[in-house]
Parts: sequence; C-alpha cells; structure tokens
Amino acid sequence: KSILLINGPNLNLLGTREPHIYGHTTLSDVENNSRDVAASRNANLESFQSNHEGAIVDRIQAARGKVDGIIINPGAYTHTSVAIRDALLGVAIPFIELHVSNVHAREAFRHHSYFSDKAAGIIVGLGVYGYKVAVEHICLNFKELDK
Ligand code: DQA
Repeated sequence: KSILLINGPNLNLLGTREPHIYGHTTLSDVENNSRDVAASRNANLESFQSNHEGAIVDRIQAARGKVDGIIINPGAYTHTSVAIRDALLGVAIPFIELHVSNVHAREAFRHHSYFSDKAAGIIVGLGVYGYKVAVEHICLNFKELDK
C-alpha cells in the first residue's frame, strides 16, 4: 500500500509550538515514526508539509492514482479551506482527518471542519499517537488501488 501524510500550516513547528496543546514531539519524529509503522506493515509512506494552501492542493493532485489513502492534518485550513476539500474530493482518494489537539474542547471557530463530512475517519485529541493509529488503520482497512 501507499500512503501520503500531509501536514498543513504551522505543523512544521510541532514540538516547539504551544507544547501544552501540541506536545513535545517534533514533526520529523512524527514523519519518521509514521514511515516506520507503515514499513512494518509493508506499506510505503511519503510525508509532505506546507504552510501554503495552493502547495497542498498541488500535492494532493499529484497523488491522484498513486496512493491508497491520505492522512491529513490541515491545521488552520481545516476551518477555512474549500480548495483543499475540493482537491481531496477531486482525486477521490479516501482520507483520514487528524488533529493533535481536541479541537472541540477549544475555541468555537475550531469546531467546524470543511473535511469531516467527507473523511473516512477522524482522529481528534489523541496527540501525536493519532498519526500511528491513522497509519495502522489505512494499512489494515483501506483498499489497495489498481495501479
Ligand atoms: C490542529 C487544530 C487546528 O485548529 C489548528 O489550527 C492547528 C492544528 C491540530 O492538530 O490540533 O494548526 O489541526
């Protein structure tokens, strides 16, 4: 299987950014761990992080027909981006929406997501452990594309 992990704006600061909310694990730790978890299940995982909406749209489009599942933490774009939502629907790749923090326990503007109604699953508030859960779920339960 082939998995694409996408992290949106400010997640490059994971581990140092508001650690009381997001914890102390860095994004490169998350990416390396996710790749190792995938490899242990004979899957391939590529990671992408960008602070730019259009770059995320481009990366999703490039994955069309090439990956079996996407794990996306859209960061603040969760609450604003019709463009990223449309990209995911356009390539028709099933995806898991992930948030490190429990967005529902935070400000009201974080309670709405442009992704949740189209996600195969949503992981919220499990900290960086959520990434491991997402990778394992795709490995065990998503269908493999005919490539
Ligand atoms: C986040 C939650 C978002 O509301 C926030 O803008 C982020 C990170 C999370 O992982 O908890 O940047 O997606």
